[in-house]
Amino acid sequence: MDVEAFLAGRLAPAFEAVAGRPVDPAVRPSQHADFQSGAALALAKELGRPPREIAAEVAGKSGLSGVTLSGPGFLNLTVDNEVLVGALRTPPAAPRAAEGQRVVVDYSSPNVAKEMHVGHLRSTIIGDALARLLESAGHDVVRVNHLGDWGTQFGMLIEQLADDDHEGASLGDLTELYRLARARFDGDDDFRTRARLRVVALQGGDPASRSLWRRLVAQSEASFLDIYHRLGIGLAPGDFVGESFYQPMLADVVAELTAKGLLVESEGALCAFPEGFAGRDGEPLPLIVRKSDGGFGYAATDLAAVRHRTRELHATRLLYVVGAPQRTHFQMVFAVARQAGWLGGATAEHIGFGSILGADGKMFKTRSGDTIKLAGLLDEAVARATDPAIGIGAIKYADLASDRRSDYVFDWDRMLAASGNTGPYLQYAVTRIRSILAKAADAPGAVVLGDPAERRLALALAGLEPAIAAATEAREPHRLAGYLHDLAVAFTTFYEKCPILKSGGATRASRLTLTARTGETLTLGLGLLGIPLPAVM
Ligand code: ARG
Repeated sequence: MDVEAFLAGRLAPAFEAVAGRPVDPAVRPSQHADFQSGAALALAKELGRPPREIAAEVAGKSGLSGVTLSGPGFLNLTVDNEVLVGALRTPPAAPRAAEGQRVVVDYSSPNVAKEMHVGHLRSTIIGDALARLLESAGHDVVRVNHLGDWGTQFGMLIEQLADDDHEGASLGDLTELYRLARARFDGDDDFRTRARLRVVALQGGDPASRSLWRRLVAQSEASFLDIYHRLGIGLAPGDFVGESFYQPMLADVVAELTAKGLLVESEGALCAFPEGFAGRDGEPLPLIVRKSDGGFGYAATDLAAVRHRTRELHATRLLYVVGAPQRTHFQMVFAVARQAGWLGGATAEHIGFGSILGADGKMFKTRSGDTIKLAGLLDEAVARATDPAIGIGAIKYADLASDRRSDYVFDWDRMLAASGNTGPYLQYAVTRIRSILAKAADAPGAVVLGDPAERRLALALAGLEPAIAAATEAREPHRLAGYLHDLAVAFTTFYEKCPILKSGGATRASRLTLTARTGETLTLGLGLLGIPLPAVM
């Protein structure tokens, strides 16, 4: 049960009666009481009355006990113990959205023939948590891994692969293949010509080129799946919809945009100029839909993807979990798609995020300045921890616990620490709770809130639903992470102050219920974030 919503539900009609219009009571947890509402302050000007007077009238009309006036016109709200106890009668559950939507979440989206690196880590972790949160709210979530599996670089890759094959070599390490191909492309005129012809052959459907390309894609997909499996990411082969999927639609996308008068020829290329986007020179910024050589690029594919997701998949909400540098790209794609009428009533949103930094505050790289490969990073996490779930959980939690918009420093010691807002701290709390409950053979019973630590824990437990709702609505998993950490801290205090197994009778039964509910709440919340739980700790 959502105590915050219960209080808001009682205050809303009182505010409406006083203001003559619906008012959001803005009930928030508070240091001064259990909760506080500052809505009277915001109404003072509109009603031309002192905020304290408004607050007093609302308090009277609400019929709530435990309401006091504070400061310039705040309402301090203290929840009845019966309400808290009532909220603990049923196991915790994620709140359901009023209206279910079909939501496409585009996340992870690494590039074929390149190993996944830390840059893809945040998209993978944040995107997966958002997909879980949206699903828990009852939305129909379509996960899409928009693989970079198309483009001119495949000419050199296939050409290199064809040469290697000639020497009887296997596909081998894709990163090495990429490096060799790049070096030859840059230094060998003959190879470069062949690579260019190869792209044309591939796009023309040449069977030999297609089959080499398919081998590359298949090998990459297998390595991505391996990473997803290790990280506990809910992306399955059926969710892999690479850029190549949209290629057959591109000519029609251009035709439709042209018919709608949205494309302008500029230096041989076909571009859209959505309003409100200017380059550094102040000139309107083009979104290049067809390049001067006739080829289609990243933007054309994303336009086709928007159209496909709304028209064919019937999505009403599109989320793109991609790093902050691609913000303008997405804003422009959304603007053009909207002009083309492809978004209709659907919303499109770029869920940007900051970078992972090294200890030096610069982009997280190896000592020699290379990008850090994800597979190696996961190996190290597992090696550093006593249980794979702790190592993997530490990495995922560190990412989810920080505001996605900010950069954060990748710090093994901090993310693996047994205390603080870390994965291991929360996992440990669950493990401790499990061991307490395993030792108690007797059943939990009715909750009695005696000690202040018990009451604070009950209050913390009641905060689950608003925390999940806030994380989902703002697409900010860190709000749920922060809540779970606060709950674990409240439990730790309770555990230190209130003996559980050493107490007896009704007190023991009540404390066992509080303990069990905390375990259920932490497990639910960590599950929504995608944080694994170790079997033993
Ligand atoms: N493959 C791209 C990259 O690595 C990310 C793709 C994101 N999704 C999209 N629909 N553009 O930068």
